[in-house]
Amino acid sequence: MSKIIFPEDFIWGAATSSYQIEGAYNEDGKGESIWDRFAHTPGKIFEGHTGDIACDHYHRYKEDVQLMKEIGIKSYRFSISWPRIFPDGKGKPNEKGVDFYKRLTDLLLENGITPAVTLYHWELPQKLQDIGGWANRDVTDYFTEYSETILKNLGDVVPIWITHNETFIVTFLGHVLGIHAPGIKDMKTALQVSHNLFLSHGKTVKLFREMNVKGQIGIAPNISYVYPASQSPEDIAAAELAFGVHARWHLDPVIKGEYPKNVVEYYEKRGILPSYPQEDLKIISEPIDFIAFNYYSPDFVKHDDEQGFVSIDSELNNFERTEMNWIVYPQGLYDTIMYLHREYDQPNIIISENGAAYKDKINNNGRIEDTKRINYLVDHLTQVHRAIQDGVNLKGYYLWSLMDNFEWSYGYSKRFGIIHVDHESQKRTIKDSGYWYKETIANNGF
Ligand code: FCB
Repeated sequence: MSKIIFPEDFIWGAATSSYQIEGAYNEDGKGESIWDRFAHTPGKIFEGHTGDIACDHYHRYKEDVQLMKEIGIKSYRFSISWPRIFPDGKGKPNEKGVDFYKRLTDLLLENGITPAVTLYHWELPQKLQDIGGWANRDVTDYFTEYSETILKNLGDVVPIWITHNETFIVTFLGHVLGIHAPGIKDMKTALQVSHNLFLSHGKTVKLFREMNVKGQIGIAPNISYVYPASQSPEDIAAAELAFGVHARWHLDPVIKGEYPKNVVEYYEKRGILPSYPQEDLKIISEPIDFIAFNYYSPDFVKHDDEQGFVSIDSELNNFERTEMNWIVYPQGLYDTIMYLHREYDQPNIIISENGAAYKDKINNNGRIEDTKRINYLVDHLTQVHRAIQDGVNLKGYYLWSLMDNFEWSYGYSKRFGIIHVDHESQKRTIKDSGYWYKETIANNGF
């Protein structure tokens, strides 16, 4: 007997992104992306792995849709590779690229699976990086032109749209730490990039309304609750600052049309505040239909005289951790949801990613008994359910990930899927967690 039952129309989803699964990196007229360039640069990715072939989803999408159908997934979140559509980032669209996503979308719909499209899951055309990438304001217009092409082709059949995935990660991992493409290490550039990402989001939402697209549109930042290391006023202020930098900087402008004050002061003191015309904030805060967010683990911080805050993650020994070494803390998901609910006036909320990497092994019977992943999912979905009981407008949950895939700088060394992929033979095998998800979806709970 199920004990935890979700609302009738709850969206049970699974997510992937184009570079992580598609492969076919130079086929049918696709241009080079910053991830192609980054992965092909020696020393950037674990053991030199690349997304050249990835899960070969570009050729195997029919089999993958069948697997989704078998599991009973109600909605599939995938992203579109911008350089597949515009090899040079702009100009004339590549029909073969457009056609792939049309075929995929049609097949999903034929199988009763709702497509949810992310326009930008980090695949900037390299040609646009060559003119400065997201630090160049012109790129916000090229993004809008790319979005327009996609909306013209898929706008009448796709009901759920996400502009950007994880602007914090694009900014910090891509432009401060340099461990993601394009591998830049400059804080000032990074903040200008973040502003331009938000601007491109706002311009696209505006276009979406002007084009009268029927579906709903939102954005998907990664939001993790930040807890203070102690209850001292210094640590509490440090946690607020860290949450501001990680989360509010990426949502306040979009929802409220202003950057958080404590973070503005913090960046101003360091002389790295981005410059922009004031009217930008009006465009950036064009109303959206839902807030989507990705959640994996929380952060714990303490006060630091120089930086303002510093993470104490590595000092914490009492938490269970995933294969990514990320803390398992389901309460953090609940706290994040409740924060969004309170702070942004009870918006519609979608969890656009949540899941865990573990060392999965195929046993002698051909099964993958990933009990830890099942426990992770049960514990996190229990918190999702709790938030719904508390009155949050929580519409759906997209599990990361449908299948094992290219985990950015970790290459294929981390497995997040509920479907196992043998990266040599491309054989897919549904893991125990996949069967567990199937049952959960069928029962609308567990
Ligand atoms: C998120 C990304 C996604 C995936 C998961 C594990 O940061 O959005 O592509 O790599 O982490």
